[in-house]
Amino acid sequence: MAKLPATIFVCQNCGSQSRKWLGQCPDCEEWNTLVEERFRAAPQTKGAGSFSSQFSTSPIAYDTIESQDDARTSTGIDEMDRVLGGGIVAGSLVLIGGAPGIGKSTIVIQMADKLGQNGTKVLYVSGEESERQIKMRGERLGIAADNLFLLPETNLQSILAETAKMKPDLVIVDSIQTVFSEKIESAPGSVSQVREVAAQFMMFAKQTGTPVFLTGHVTKEGSIAGPKTLEHIVDTVLYFEGDRHHNHRIIRATKNRFGAANEIGVFEMTNAGLVPVSNPSELFLQERPENATGSVVTVCMEGTRPMLVEVQALVSGTTFGSGRRMTQGFDHNRASLLIAVLEKQLGFQLAGDDVFVNVAGGMEIDEPAADLGVLAAIASSFRNLQVPPETAVFGEVGLTGEIRGVLQAQARAREAQTLGFKKLILPESNKKGLEKLLGIRVVGVKNLEQAMDELF
Ligand code: TYD
Ligand code: MG
Repeated sequence: MAKLPATIFVCQNCGSQSRKWLGQCPDCEEWNTLVEERFRAAPQTKGAGSFSSQFSTSPIAYDTIESQDDARTSTGIDEMDRVLGGGIVAGSLVLIGGAPGIGKSTIVIQMADKLGQNGTKVLYVSGEESERQIKMRGERLGIAADNLFLLPETNLQSILAETAKMKPDLVIVDSIQTVFSEKIESAPGSVSQVREVAAQFMMFAKQTGTPVFLTGHVTKEGSIAGPKTLEHIVDTVLYFEGDRHHNHRIIRATKNRFGAANEIGVFEMTNAGLVPVSNPSELFLQERPENATGSVVTVCMEGTRPMLVEVQALVSGTTFGSGRRMTQGFDHNRASLLIAVLEKQLGFQLAGDDVFVNVAGGMEIDEPAADLGVLAAIASSFRNLQVPPETAVFGEVGLTGEIRGVLQAQARAREAQTLGFKKLILPESNKKGLEKLLGIRVVGVKNLEQAMDELF
């Protein structure tokens, strides 16, 4: 076997390795991301060191394997169960990522509390806070924390030794960037450390059937340190979305081996921690202005859940030569394209106007089904005409101004009806049978012209 070099250089962005230092990573083309990391040869003694050597496996007959679905444990928090695809799967490795201070430690301790009340023994490994700090947070959250054990430790080998002794039903590691393996000499949080620690916890989870939750900070580029290397190791990746200016937090499953990806859980950060929001549409429509132009409600799908959001637009004469287009929560290029369709197909003159599009409540929408909502808001502001407040719209807009059908139209329509909307404007091809089913007015439109006639 070829001798391994004593040191290698690892890109901290993508995990690519090189024997020499380079200014630019040849894989991800980032500059100054290569860091020297040392390898220490793994000890040759069997049975010690890595967790994997304590077990051996042999082939298992397919029909003797128990189905995993009954092995799901509820976290006791509905919104959390939803993003996990119905609860915690035995032996799964879950990564919870998010910006510092967004609520990662809060959600895991709340989960530990709920699980503890049902008799689940939880080990909470903390490398960031002392046991007293964790207790302080717990008291603030008013949790009883039966069956919760704290371990302020950052050495991977010690953590695995303690886990083997204690045999908890769930392990939480807060955060993965603070844990280090003795076998690798690079600093905690570096790509090789994070990868090794995650791999060891993966092996631990798979071989003992104990679920493991890891929390991880997101770098300023928006990825968990060594993103490509971590995200494919773990079973489930949950990302915290939200910002300082809003109280709601969204946990999104960007990857889930045991459930639908893109599923979201909505929470509100309060004095008593994160409170699940079971009806997000209500939350996002709460502050909708009455009798205002440029405000339209559309229906988006977040995973399997339909959600009503308010799209706002403002069209005003520009003070510069040519109009600016600015968007928040909606793709800028898509908005420019839609404005061009409006100009070409309906003859709107928007070249001399600034157009601003905003999705209220800090939401982000990125599906074509929102096209019609965005166009309706722009048209409403431009013409100074109001869209009736009890009307909701959705549909994809094509370049020739045709309105195309969208997925899960029925679920969207039902959500609008549930929230008291009396009229729906949607693609003609999605209309079938909906009016009878829901008992509200459903208007199918084929092109922008028809849509505009219906709206104003
Ligand atoms: P935390 O869970 O410590 O964030 P992370 O682990 O992701 O870094 O959350 C800290 C923030 O949440 C902090 O700004 C205070 C706020 N917070 C509340 O508003 N209410 C609460 O009950 C708790 C525990 C925290
Ligand atoms: Mg924390």
